[in-house]
Amino acid sequence: MSILIQNGRIVTASETYLADLYIEGEKVMAIGQNLPHKADKIIDATGKLVFPGGIDPHVHLDMPFMGTHSSDDYETGTRAALYGGTTMVIDFILQTQGDTLYNALKTWQQKSQGKAVGDYSYHMAVTDFNDTTAKEVVQMIEEEGISSFKTFMAYKGALMIDDGQMVQLMKVVKKHGGLVTVHATNGDMIDSLIAKNRAEGNLSPLYHYLSQPEVTEAEASARFADMLNYTGCPGYIVHMTCEGALNAVRNATQRNQKIFVETCTQYLILDASLYEKDFEGAKWVMSPPLREKKDQEALWSGINQGLVQVVGTDHCPFMWEQKKMGQDDFSKIPNGHPAIEHRIELLYSEGVHTGKISLTKFVEVSATNAAKIFGMYPQKGTIAIGSDADIVVFDPKKEHTISVKTHHMNCDYSAYEGQKVIGKTETVILRGQIAIENEECRLKPGFGKFIKRSKTSKTVI
Ligand code: URP
Ligand code: ZN
Ligand code: ZN
Repeated sequence: MSILIQNGRIVTASETYLADLYIEGEKVMAIGQNLPHKADKIIDATGKLVFPGGIDPHVHLDMPFMGTHSSDDYETGTRAALYGGTTMVIDFILQTQGDTLYNALKTWQQKSQGKAVGDYSYHMAVTDFNDTTAKEVVQMIEEEGISSFKTFMAYKGALMIDDGQMVQLMKVVKKHGGLVTVHATNGDMIDSLIAKNRAEGNLSPLYHYLSQPEVTEAEASARFADMLNYTGCPGYIVHMTCEGALNAVRNATQRNQKIFVETCTQYLILDASLYEKDFEGAKWVMSPPLREKKDQEALWSGINQGLVQVVGTDHCPFMWEQKKMGQDDFSKIPNGHPAIEHRIELLYSEGVHTGKISLTKFVEVSATNAAKIFGMYPQKGTIAIGSDADIVVFDPKKEHTISVKTHHMNCDYSAYEGQKVIGKTETVILRGQIAIENEECRLKPGFGKFIKRSKTSKTVI
């Protein structure tokens, strides 16, 4: 199959220019003006943007969590991602405490193989660090192409590791060229605030927010940065929400540390006033919670200052019936919200269209930096000769409204219901195949491929 995309404005992390793009097989083969190639398919991209397929490095598909499972599996989740222009996701494997990393890997392979529509990789969440785990970490990096290790400083009893385990993990990961990522919030502080609120009969979703004040994230982010500094390991803070945590990273960068930051679309766009809607606030119960307007401003500035390198989603959807598990107690509401489909369009509309970020910055934070940080560049995350032909043709003028009625995620509500968006993903190509065209997905489950990643130390920015 060959595809010629004509007259589009190509956007990469470093430049934008008018050109044609010629794709053959899985790869980009030529870029230039008035390319003479004949092709099986020609796409007229006049007036459109042509940018690399998005990479969302923070999703939870079919994940066992808080007594239930996230409602998108590999098929529905990666397909919804494609509809929005995200051609690759990185999901989280969760080690069961007391069990091995390899058993967890097998479980996630069964969830994904034959089902994924879009490309994917895994982060390995280390929830129990011991001698066996240490050996397996090395095997994950050297043999399995999994070079990033997720840690939790919260969710005690299920996912959290202590600081001693964290430092030991960092030492092994550093030695072998990988990366430690973290959910950086102070779990003990949060647990005690939750217990206090429950004891006082404060049970609505608002108290989820009030049990995780900014200091719980700022403190843990600073502690994580200090441990990275001590061990020399590169690190990545997932789903950063607030000014205090960002300032902890700002301080760490003065020590010339390799510390990367991801925020998520919801923290740039939504705020904590949504928790005042009684139980409807459960739609946005996630950890960390939504914050204040001043935090949104800090995060947008952080993107422009280069302190925040990635915008993901932390897609972790639950049906309304599942959210109702916490109807009488906020601490039982499964944490997470549906977002995988709308990241690119929301970031374009709220970021580029409003003038907060440039087009090249948009590509940097939605695709290129994730590919670099997670060891996939330049195979993924850019438009260049020889790169995978993961391409989005995007109409920057088209207006539409987000709704549960039209989204493709397996979730019976939208966290952005009624939100007007300017700019729409029109055609999506994954490894040289048309994935989305005329609002239809043309790829079958099983097309999505596991992408083996190289060591972060080889590609890191
Ligand atoms: O609320 C969230 N974020 N749910 C998913 C698990 C996590 O902490 O990322
Ligand atoms: Zn988290
Ligand atoms: Zn998450």
